[in-house]
Amino acid sequence: MNFKQEMEERISYIETVLKKYLPPKDGFQERIMEAMEYSLMGGGKRVRPMLMLESYRLFGGEGKVMEPFMAAMEMIHTYSLVHDDLPAMDDDEYRRGRKTTHIVYGHAMGILAGDALLNYAFETALSSFDLENHPGIPKALQVLANKAGIYGMIGGQVVDVESEGMEISMEKLQAIHRMKTGALIQASVMIGAILAGASSKDVQIMEQVGADIGLAFQIQDDILDVTSTTEELGKPVFSDEKNHKTTYVTFKGLESAKADVEEISKRAMKTIDGFSGEKEFFLELVKSLITRKK
Ligand code: IPE
Ligand code: IPE
Ligand code: MG
Ligand code: MG
Ligand code: MG
Repeated sequence: MNFKQEMEERISYIETVLKKYLPPKDGFQERIMEAMEYSLMGGGKRVRPMLMLESYRLFGGEGKVMEPFMAAMEMIHTYSLVHDDLPAMDDDEYRRGRKTTHIVYGHAMGILAGDALLNYAFETALSSFDLENHPGIPKALQVLANKAGIYGMIGGQVVDVESEGMEISMEKLQAIHRMKTGALIQASVMIGAILAGASSKDVQIMEQVGADIGLAFQIQDDILDVTSTTEELGKPVFSDEKNHKTTYVTFKGLESAKADVEEISKRAMKTIDGFSGEKEFFLELVKSLITRKK
């Protein structure tokens, strides 16, 4: 398997799906469609839809019903970034290698573009009912809504913002990471499994796999904030220090944080390897995230 080539093929497939589900740019409100496209199509690793697809394949999924969910997931993730960068939050001016949405379109439109992506994500996911009469759709929608909200991503952002400039426990730091980043990754692998018809026991196992991949992903994000460059990351380095955040690196040190990324990721890989379906790329993908540079 040529991992890099397979990765590029997947990204190009995912971006075709994203374009298909973006709203056409017209009407008096045309500017919001432009801002949605600017933030959504401006690069990005597409890790969440890719994980959804791999989980779908692991459990034998072969149809197109996951496409609107892949698009919805990337829309929710992108809205979380647009709002995360706002002056009232992390106040960052670069994202995915270009100016953030609120810098290009203004603060009000930045807020609205985030709102629009969130709402349109649900319009998109709900459009799966028009594709086919699939018994997994209601459960998939429930997981998407729950993991994006106050028990998931939003909940994590709340505690993250509230904890700025404070000393917090490892328990609280892990809770922030699990919610703000882990939850959408959990939803991605769970929805893939649900739509492929996996048993509820296997969906639960994937919830744990997603929690591990997500925690490792955010620890690595904390590491890259201090070890990478703005050019490579496509977003500002030292954003956490600027905002007086406690991160995995400030808490445990760089080496210990790196060791944790590896250990947690390997735990997830071991569980994935326990399934008999198509898993080669899935495993390579999780492995590649341990040493990702952006
Ligand atoms: C950045 O997510 C924010 C986190 C939750 C760590 P990604 O690193 O997946 O960002 P993109 O989508 O590739 O831009
Ligand atoms: C944010 O974490 C996670 C989100 C839910 C957006 P960060 O604030 O560390 O993400 P980056 O580093 O700006 O991408
Ligand atoms: Mg943040
Ligand atoms: Mg940020
Ligand atoms: Mg960060």
